[in-house]
Amino acid sequence: MRRVYMDNNATSPLLPEVLEAMRPYFIEEFGNASSIHHHGQSTRAAVERARESVAAMLSCRASEIVFTSGGTEGDNLAIFGLIKAGDHVITSTIEHHAVLNACKQLEKRGCEVTFVPVDGRGLVDPADVKRALRNNTKLITIMMANNETGVVQPVKEIGRVAREDDVYFHTDAVQAAGKVPIDVKEIGCDLLTISGHKMHAPQGIGALYVRKGTLIEPLFYGGNHERQRRAGTENVAGIVGLGKAAELAQAGLANGTIARLGKLRDRLQAALIGELEDVGVNGEGATRVPTTTNIHFDHIEGEALVIALDLKGLAVSTGAACSSGAIEPSHVLTAMGLRPDQARSSLRFSLGKQTTSADIDFALSMIPETVARLRELSPVWQKRQPAVGSRQS
Ligand SMILES: Cc1ncc(COP(=O)(O)O)c(C=O)c1O
Repeated sequence: MRRVYMDNNATSPLLPEVLEAMRPYFIEEFGNASSIHHHGQSTRAAVERARESVAAMLSCRASEIVFTSGGTEGDNLAIFGLIKAGDHVITSTIEHHAVLNACKQLEKRGCEVTFVPVDGRGLVDPADVKRALRNNTKLITIMMANNETGVVQPVKEIGRVAREDDVYFHTDAVQAAGKVPIDVKEIGCDLLTISGHKMHAPQGIGALYVRKGTLIEPLFYGGNHERQRRAGTENVAGIVGLGKAAELAQAGLANGTIARLGKLRDRLQAALIGELEDVGVNGEGATRVPTTTNIHFDHIEGEALVIALDLKGLAVSTGAACSSGAIEPSHVLTAMGLRPDQARSSLRFSLGKQTTSADIDFALSMIPETVARLRELSPVWQKRQPAVGSRQS
């Protein structure tokens, strides 16, 4: 059975070049990067080369890169590394749970958090961020690109707000890395998180950019790894994979690969909108990463559509999260003003470098008919249809 994967925002497959770069570090190059003998020096050199590659992708110095286990750790290190009881933090209502739940935990520890809203396109207004500033505001943490909609936030403007008030700025760029150019100086951020498995490197590796002079408390205590910012023996193979993926990410932005994916995404989106009624793009009108589209297919349950498409070989996802047995509508889509039923009818399509034009044809060969079939079964849809024989006005 043919299977097409369009859920790259959940995780993306390793590129063959990434696997090749990593392979020696599982076998012959096995040294602990902290050892002073030949084996350790060899892996240390590989770690430092990867650090240079990640730094080049973000336009920063290698010494400003801290390797982590992924996006969740990077976000937590940025937030808990800076914030103490009594501090105030500004974030948004559409953050990933790695930031949202870290901020909710801060509230339990005696910190104050302001969750700024988004508009119908899913955009934070920098003026709202400015208005939320208080005397004790220490950190603004607002994501660069949303994982559900792909909407890119006005991070440069938010960075300016942070600088004017001498407040730290962290941005979760997990879904932006490799899809849009990132220059930490242009953004004006102090901290920026990336995750390997969203950019064709392995799961369980990531990095946090920490601007020179930004003092963060580590999350773990142990050895002096990562300049005392992240204790624990380095995941050498993962780090090498992230370094290679960072090089390929930069190349992909320069050589037209990402632009190609943008065209494929636009074709998929335009065909679905053109062919089906009562559908729409969530986040339309905002700048979005070229690889993501999130579409509401009114009158049906997104989960049912995901399952039906999966049975036919197409892997996509809903924006919905499953909490305590109940399917809650996505906090991102409801924050954008979608009705709960519309949010629940939404599907995310996220493309990766492996996505081909034939994959889009495959998706288009099944989505409209599957939506139509599910709508036939939907009491909401049936009610909406004029009764047979009735005159349409
Ligand atoms: C925006 C965003 N931040 C953070 C994370 C967490 O990253 P990781 O899975 O590497 O912990 C994700 C993963 O979905 C994400 O999309």
